[in-house]
Amino acid sequence: MGSVSSAILICRLLQLPDPRSKGSGNPGATNVLRIGGKIAALSVLAFDVLKGTIPVWGAYFLGIEPIYLGVIAIAACLGHMYPIFFQFKGGKAVATAFGALLPIGLDLGALLVITWFSVAKITKYSSLAAIITVCLAPFYTWLLKPVYTYPVLMLSIIILVRHRHNMARLIQGNEPKITDKKLS
Ligand code: G3P
Repeated sequence: MGSVSSAILICRLLQLPDPRSKGSGNPGATNVLRIGGKIAALSVLAFDVLKGTIPVWGAYFLGIEPIYLGVIAIAACLGHMYPIFFQFKGGKAVATAFGALLPIGLDLGALLVITWFSVAKITKYSSLAAIITVCLAPFYTWLLKPVYTYPVLMLSIIILVRHRHNMARLIQGNEPKITDKKLS
């Protein structure tokens, strides 16, 4: 499921440019917002969140142990980052990771959403919002559901590594903002 790149498919469906060759080059909701607008971006966001939620929730209801739920969450995110159906060129898995963490609890989900939106509203950088949220996710998990702390920590590390180019651009001052139309 992780390997089904909704950004690429939805852009194809709406006859928009391939998000890997436009804007920031990232096949994710933020870049689709730049290329195709709100409806396209929200569709990508919903699809990517569900790619994380469905397998983890399904496994949870089958009674699978927390550590393996973590493995499933990481697998969904790795599929999104390196999709087998799209030449292994995928996104950064922020929405998919959020979806995979939702079954842990709506309180955790709410904290993650509030953190992301607060940073995004203040800075207008989607990547910075994701980086800060991902850094805080293991701490929030430890407060609310400690049993899931290590899987969430692993997920956070993978997503942070995936944002290394964003970090470099943020430091250099040339990171594109959320609605940087001049990129599209
Ligand atoms: O969730 C992806 C975001 O963190 C960065 O997106 O397109 O600004 O590189 P983008």
